[in-house]
Parts: sequence; structure tokens; C-alpha cells
Amino acid sequence: MSEESPLVRSLRAAVAAAPEDVPLRLHLAELLLEAGRNDAAIAEVAVALQRAPGDEKARELMGRAMGAPAAPVQEQAAVPTAPAEEKPAAGRRDGFDWQAAEGQVRDVVPPRFVESPLTVDGSGDPGDADAWEVDAPGTVRLADVGGMQDVKDRLEAAFLAPMRNPELRKLYGKSLRGGLLLYGPPGCGKTFIARAVAGELGANFLSVSVNDVLDMWIGNSERNMHEIFATARRQAPCVVFLDELDALGGKRSRTQHSGMRNTVNQLLTELDGIDAQANEGVFVLAATNLPWDVDLALRRPGRLDRTLLVLPPDAPAREAILRYHLRDRPIENVDLGKLAKATDGLSGADLAHVCESAAETALLDSARTGTVRMIGMKDLLGAAKAVAPSTEAWFSSARNVAMFANEGGTYDDLLAYLKKRRKL
Ligand SMILES: Nc1ncnc2c1ncn2[C@@H]1O[C@H](COP(=O)(O)OP(=O)(O)O)[C@@H](O)[C@H]1O
Ligand SMILES: [Mg+2]
Repeated sequence: MSEESPLVRSLRAAVAAAPEDVPLRLHLAELLLEAGRNDAAIAEVAVALQRAPGDEKARELMGRAMGAPAAPVQEQAAVPTAPAEEKPAAGRRDGFDWQAAEGQVRDVVPPRFVESPLTVDGSGDPGDADAWEVDAPGTVRLADVGGMQDVKDRLEAAFLAPMRNPELRKLYGKSLRGGLLLYGPPGCGKTFIARAVAGELGANFLSVSVNDVLDMWIGNSERNMHEIFATARRQAPCVVFLDELDALGGKRSRTQHSGMRNTVNQLLTELDGIDAQANEGVFVLAATNLPWDVDLALRRPGRLDRTLLVLPPDAPAREAILRYHLRDRPIENVDLGKLAKATDGLSGADLAHVCESAAETALLDSARTGTVRMIGMKDLLGAAKAVAPSTEAWFSSARNVAMFANEGGTYDDLLAYLKKRRKL
């Protein structure tokens, strides 16, 4: 490992001569990876991914290069637990540590958004130094997000790998600035994923709803926006999570809000400052259900220039969500795999509703018959059938945008999904 092999050296020279050649660079990366030089491999793959973000091989290599240190930990945790026997995790790429996830999710779920203490008393002075509450680095990691392997891979390649590697950050400096915009139907895990990203980066988490920024004191929104970033800088490393980013878009009724333009401009100033020294360690994530309402200026290069579509949970994700919502309920003989199959198309929020209404049925039954009975598959499947996917409305507006306003291929991912699901 001390001396580079002649092959690696000549490949390096070849790559230097043909920096655009993605396969060549990946070949080099693979050799580096085989030599156990993960960081060097990551550096090469990151460059390749900037040129060809969709490249399968590049993603696979990045997964291997990044995943190597983390994998044994997961496996150790997964092996001794008994349920592995009853349910072979066929085709599942990630071992899922239910217990850890449930413990962690428990912390996460109740405070969906960090409210500013100022909203509580409503009277405070917005100049207050740390008016925005920052959560300490959480324990939610990407491994706690059930399923959604695509999303995780893209996060890893497009955001996490370069960000958490200080050498890479130095190397690519400016090209890495800018943030990530998560978009998709409501209730499908955007907020959850943003927290997991903060966990992966070991960063503090400052979550604000843009609606709160705008509502709190008319006329103070601009200053609020500045305070948010000032707080994040003081608490770096820190993820700033701007939820409901569309509220700033000006396409909705709020257009009349006089401070809106100023607030957008303030956010632009803060985002453009992200590459400055003072902003080292400040990562910006945003989320919206209405990406088409997001102010275009916010999506220019160096700002929120990367987008990630977060779709309704896939089967493993549904299992994770269902398990979480059934954790404290009296259940018997629940086949989560089967239930996950029967709930295709439902969002995380819908799944919570399924569990609730199944519990209600069992409870009413018990009350009527005078005999307490557990919640069973029948209740759950019945409830699943009765719940209409809440994302349907979203998909019907998204469909139009994806078909008729897909400028620059912004919504290619969405189109592919709609096609696959025969929603076009
Ligand atoms: N892949 C997943 N794994 C585990 N829980 C999930 C997953 N996706 C969504 N959830 C859960 O579903 C619920 C809704 O997700 P949330 O992040 O609030 O959605 P959004 O921000 O997109 O509206 C949350 O309780 C979240 O923890
Ligand atoms: Mg959310």
C-alpha cells in the first residue's frame, strides 16, 4: 500500500490525460479500492459521478468504497437477533436493526419540526442570539430508513460522500457547494431522510418550516432567515433543513406578502455564502411537496441545485414503518411481509392510519363482544383496503408538470416512476 503499483500509476497518467473518460477513471477507482485505498477511490468516483451522475458502475463502486467500514457493524447487530430465522431477508441489501431503529424513530417522531421558542411566547425579540433551536447530532442514520435503496445510493453519491470527506471537500471546493432539495408527495419520508442525513454527517440539525419563518412576524422574515444561518454557523457542523420551501415561491396566495421577495433574496445571499470560509460545515437541505412552486432562482447552480425525488415507501420501507406503528399495540400473528405487499402505494402517513384504524376495529369488537381480542391480519388487511392512497392527488398534479413542464429534464425521475407505475 506504500508504493503505488505501476498499473495504478499509468492509469493515473491516462486519467490525467483524459479527464472526461468516465470508464477509465472508474477502472482506476476499482484498482484503488482493491488495494484498500478507499479514500483515493472515493475521490475518483466522486469526479466520475459529477460527470455521469447516473452511472451504475460508479454508484456501485461508491457504495463499496463508502460502505466498507460501516457494513460489519450492521451485520454484527443483525446476526444474533433471532427473527432472521423466521423471515429470510431475501433480496434485501441492507440488514435492518429494528430495535435500534424503533428506539431512534421514537425520538424523532414526536417533534416533527423544531418550533422556534419565539412562536411559543410570540412576544420575544427576534434578535435573540439563538432563537432557532438546534438539535444535537441525532442517532438516526440512513440505515434506519427502511428500504428506498435508490434514494440512499443517490444521497451517498451526490451528497454524503463528498461532504463527509474533508479532503474531497478541499479538493473540489466550490463545485461541492450548494444544497439538496428533496421533493415528492407528502408523508413519504422527506423529513425523516433529512434527519438521517444530518445523522450521517454527525451534524447538528436546525429544522425550520419556511411557513414559520414567514408567519412569525410580518416584516421580520428576512431577519429570521439571516438568524437561521447565523445560528447554523455558530453550531457547525450543522444541517439547515428548510421545510415547505415552496412557501417562498410566490406562486401561491402568499404572493401578497410584502416581505417575500426580500426573504427570497436573503436566502439567496445566505446560500451563496455557503462556500465562504465562515460557512464551512453548514449543509443545506430543503424539502417541498410542490417543487414547481419553488422560486427558480433558488435552484440555480451553487444553490439548491441537486434534487432528489422521495417516492412512496417501497416494500421494505413499508415494513419498517408498519413495524414502528405496531410496536406498542396488542397484535398477533401479523405477517409484515404480506401486509407490506397489500399496502403498495400508501404513504408513511397512510400506513400509520391503517394501523390506527385496525386497532380501532379490534377495540370496538372487544367492547361489543365483551371479550378482548388482539389485532390480527384481518383487521390490518381490511383497514389497508379501506384507505385510499393520499398521494393520488399529488400524482395527478405532478403528472401534468412532468409531462408538460419538464424543462431541462428536472422531472425525469418522476416521469420514469409514473411510467413504471402506469400512471401516465
Ligand atoms: N423509509 C422509511 N423508513 C422508516 N420510516 C419512514 C420511511 N419513510 C417514511 N417514514 C415515516 O413516515 C412518516 C412520514 O414521513 P415524513 O418524513 O414526515 O414525510 P414528509 O416529510 O415527506 O411529509 C414519518 O413518521 C416517518 O418516520
Ligand atoms: Mg415533512
